[in-house]
Amino acid sequence: MRLSELSALVVNFFKMNESIKHKIEQLSKQIEEHNFNYYVNAAPVISDFEFDKLLEELIKLENEHPEFLQPDSPSQRVGGQITKEFLTVKHKYPMLSLGNTYSEEDLTDFDERIKKVLVTDYEYVCELKYDGVAIGITYKNGILVQAVTRGDGEKGDDVTTNVKTIKSIPLKLRGTDFPTEFEIRGEIFMPRKVFDEINKDREEIGEPLLANPRNTAAGTLKMQDSAVVAKRNLDCFLYAILADNLPHQHHYENLKAAKNWGFKISEHLQKANNIQNVFKYLDKWDKQRNDLEFDIDGVVIKINSFEQQRILGFTAKSPRWAIAYKFKTQRVSTVLESIVYQVGRTGSITPVANLKPVLLAGTMVKRASLHNADIIEKLDVREGDTVFVEKGGEIIPKIIGVDQSKRDIFSEKTIYITHCPECATELVRSEAEANHYCPNESACPPQVKGRMEHFVSRRALDIDSLGAETIAQLYDAGLIKNCADIYKLKKEDILKIDRMAEKSVNNLLAGIEASKKIPFERVLYGIGIRHIGETTAKKLAYYFKNIDSLKNATLESLLEVGDIGETTAKAILAFFADADNTEIIEKLKGAGLQFALSGEQMVNSSDKLKGLSFVVSGVFNKFSRDDLKKAIEQNGGKNVGSISSKTNYVIAGDNMGPEKHRKAEKLGVPIITEDDFIKMISENEPGVRRTESDEKLINQTPNS
Ligand code: IVH
Repeated sequence: MRLSELSALVVNFFKMNESIKHKIEQLSKQIEEHNFNYYVNAAPVISDFEFDKLLEELIKLENEHPEFLQPDSPSQRVGGQITKEFLTVKHKYPMLSLGNTYSEEDLTDFDERIKKVLVTDYEYVCELKYDGVAIGITYKNGILVQAVTRGDGEKGDDVTTNVKTIKSIPLKLRGTDFPTEFEIRGEIFMPRKVFDEINKDREEIGEPLLANPRNTAAGTLKMQDSAVVAKRNLDCFLYAILADNLPHQHHYENLKAAKNWGFKISEHLQKANNIQNVFKYLDKWDKQRNDLEFDIDGVVIKINSFEQQRILGFTAKSPRWAIAYKFKTQRVSTVLESIVYQVGRTGSITPVANLKPVLLAGTMVKRASLHNADIIEKLDVREGDTVFVEKGGEIIPKIIGVDQSKRDIFSEKTIYITHCPECATELVRSEAEANHYCPNESACPPQVKGRMEHFVSRRALDIDSLGAETIAQLYDAGLIKNCADIYKLKKEDILKIDRMAEKSVNNLLAGIEASKKIPFERVLYGIGIRHIGETTAKKLAYYFKNIDSLKNATLESLLEVGDIGETTAKAILAFFADADNTEIIEKLKGAGLQFALSGEQMVNSSDKLKGLSFVVSGVFNKFSRDDLKKAIEQNGGKNVGSISSKTNYVIAGDNMGPEKHRKAEKLGVPIITEDDFIKMISENEPGVRRTESDEKLINQTPNS
């Protein structure tokens, strides 16, 4: 090759690289703009589908050219990084709390104190007091560099990786008038809708429900797997900026500026030039708080001028220029008319109090959960009692106590039911669980109907024209007794029952037919084994490949699948030990449902890594970390978070921490490269633990 040709090649290579770099930058900008429109402005301009396409394109380019992957790329929001231990970080500015008041008198006193110190006119800024977890986020040159929790106010936990997954928090700022370095503080919260959905999913797979959005947000922020955090759709309002050179000398104006930099600032911020206007704001939000899409527990009042804030100063714990007015917990008393017992899809019994209807927090409350036998015992609630009902952070109103002064002297202690109210089967209660269960899975009506509803639900078999009502009608008419019967339904049956128009019936039958093509992992999720959610179903499907291998699995082999604990493993064994279940599965197989991975899925999967556990560390060229982990699972291996003597391999990418390297070497865990890994899964011999080539790999280090 001539020199001129070679230099042309080199020039071309650089040009192409430049254009890829440019494309990545352009896509990143475009995606962040859409994130801003959607999550901050609540005004999306493209469909979710179009958005996903853009993100997919970006991720593909970044995977092909990891040298262009930027730390502020929107692809980082998908998560995937594991934080083993959250580092403790000292706050640059201590994270103080606020003085609390519960009464208008206290607020008037606060205002009087301010008046006395300031002498001149002053202005307040009223804000909502978001009920979540405080966070301090540092930006340098417009890039998010660190996010730290409040901790003890002096030191907090570095949760940067998880915070980066929150789509309303900008990774890179817009505009130019922000300080070169600053900290912005705010509250991370979980919108009520997101919380409700999580609980709905948990209910479906028989997991205990989460108590409230605040605790869930706090728990989520400290999760080790940022990919799970990303899926939990946390959100964040920002309420304070700390820097030496802010663009304005007033809090309100700075927050407005921060909005232009891309931060989510509440639209309910309001200036008040006297305490009366503050009272109006309090009143308004005490009444309207239930209309918000997130929880608030009060209102915060702050002096707007920084100069006046400086004059007022701080006490040891909190600023003198701000105060939190906390709403009183909304509490009423009413009569508990009766206690009824509901049976859920998994057979779990929930005692429910029927109340004399009463207005609480803007809604008419007629029922409240009593949770379980222990709670009833602890509160000693009885039918006919006058009870106190509260609406705190929890969505469902709670009975918090009994007004003993109003108890009827003839009232009788509540005796918890011993038999199922639906099918009269004797209830069971295991040591570890708070709830009673009805064990009659195959014939207890709400369990059977609930299981069918789950089976046809969108994320399972997706027969959307078969709603709960139709299922109930078909069940009551004796036409369907289990999921397999759905595939025996005839047009005449449905026509009779539902008095549906012919077109709807045809739709329903088409939906049933189409469900036969739904992939194995969704069928596995649909059959409703306790504790098996979508993710676990997928893992099991790829690990065992077909239903018969799963059915024959032992406790030990189930525990080898990543993230499957003893409770889940035992639930799987119990499911297949029940002849009714295996009979239904055989019938469903006969009807033509997918009970094995498809050919295409099999091509990407094998047993080659069965029994082997991997730690993935660093940045890779040929895989994203997520894809690498997926490849491990699809080939039967298990991902673990940290290196121990039980780890079989560490797959090391670029920038693997020296600490990990040392630990692996000390414990004698082989460190392999991604190419070694590719060799491992592309070799022909299936399922052999340590082949000759494995032995070779064991002696390799990433650079050898
Ligand atoms: S300002 C110097 N504004 O309430 C104190 N705090 O004790 C600066 N909070 O955990 C706090 N909404 O995270 C401020 N609009 C708001 C707030 C707010 C919620 C939380 C904050 C802290 C607690 C105050």
